[in-house]
Amino acid sequence: MLMDARQIRTAYFQYFQERGHALLPRASLISKEGDGTLFTGSGMQPLMPYLLGAPHPAGTKLTNSQPAVRVQDIDEVGDNRHTTFFEMLGNWSLGDYYKEEQIRWFFDFLTRIVGLDPCRLYVTAFAGDEQAGIPRDEEAAQIWQRVFAEHAIDAQIAVVGSQADGDVRGIRSGERIFFYGDGENWWSRGRGLAGTPLRDPCGPDSEVFYDFGPEHHDPSYGLPHPASESGRFMEIGNQVFMQYQRRRDGSFAPLAHRNVDFGGGLERIAAAANNNPDVFLVSLLRPIIEHLENLSGRSYRQCMASMRIVADHLRASVFMIVDGVRPTNKDRGYVLRRLIRRAIIYAQDLDIREYSLPATVPVVISLYARDYPEVSENSETIVRVLEKEERVFRQTLRRGLRELHRRGPAGVTGEDIFTLYDTFGFPSELAVEEVLKHGYELSSDWREEFERGMHKQRARSRSTL
Ligand code: ALA
Repeated sequence: MLMDARQIRTAYFQYFQERGHALLPRASLISKEGDGTLFTGSGMQPLMPYLLGAPHPAGTKLTNSQPAVRVQDIDEVGDNRHTTFFEMLGNWSLGDYYKEEQIRWFFDFLTRIVGLDPCRLYVTAFAGDEQAGIPRDEEAAQIWQRVFAEHAIDAQIAVVGSQADGDVRGIRSGERIFFYGDGENWWSRGRGLAGTPLRDPCGPDSEVFYDFGPEHHDPSYGLPHPASESGRFMEIGNQVFMQYQRRRDGSFAPLAHRNVDFGGGLERIAAAANNNPDVFLVSLLRPIIEHLENLSGRSYRQCMASMRIVADHLRASVFMIVDGVRPTNKDRGYVLRRLIRRAIIYAQDLDIREYSLPATVPVVISLYARDYPEVSENSETIVRVLEKEERVFRQTLRRGLRELHRRGPAGVTGEDIFTLYDTFGFPSELAVEEVLKHGYELSSDWREEFERGMHKQRARSRSTL
């Protein structure tokens, strides 16, 4: 029997509790003041002081599932794997167990408990960096080799380098364990060794990928390899061996304790269990898609991108509202406003015109009510906030459209589109769509003109700070 996402979450808690981990409640999506990010984007974020050495009241082995938001991915939503909201399964060792236990346990959980075929798993480790004084993670690679060997899989080790190197090199016969550089296998809240924030904990990581098969490979990305974006491999878990802290002078010093920070995308593990790379078909998203099919009378197959965007943005908005975010024009509130408005626009694309989001809220609530009761406890608030935002936004749309059609016959420039955006909050992508739909002339460099307007506006708002 295939495990669905909820069953995977429950089994994961049980697996790690049986191995002495304390189950922690989730943290709010609203990250702590001074955290440098607007939203909680990983399970480790609320645990930062403990990873740096403070004793955690629940002990040295912890686990949970953390709802997370990564809005940097907003423009990627619409393909089969990107979402702004996801749940991250996490387990941590605060100076307790290390690489051997972590690698064995995660492999065992994936293969024996979830039932994934070990032949579909490919893994990576850090290639090392001489200049930073961080050695190649031979230890992780060797543990992996032993674990695969115990399952009669002869896993060869390959040194790849960067993602781009991998696109040219591909996978050679028998290879299953891949060394990549700091772009892929160095983890901190920044990017790469150079981008590691000062004073943050960090370390080499070892990622696990699921192979959906060569038929999912898009050759325009080059040759297939685990870290490629080509669609064949999907990262389903990341084991960070958090043993360094970046010093103020930029160098890397060993932490007092060697920690494990594991994060695995629940929806992605569930997609691997389905052996289908579309995360929108897992049990925590599929019912929302089916509901949108019913409301719109269209099929998912025909309108994939729009349905995915509505489903993802609505789910993210629901959790943000539960955690106390409200639509406004700045910071978190602006992100929420943008998500809600984008969801409304894409619902409109599906010809769902009135109260598309409030009508879909009960489906989202039913998916989370048992595991996150705060979602159902706040159902009235969620609906009220969404209804109000939709009302305001529809007014904006009507005013913007009136103005657009007044200007349209004379041709539309990027400056016009910027003015609509600036004055009415009218989204640029929708303006362009309307212009094209009505056959108005659109200036060929509208993007640059629009950007110039944005640039001037940013300069203006900086000078008024
Ligand atoms: N903190 C690690 C991540 O977000 C596990 O990938």
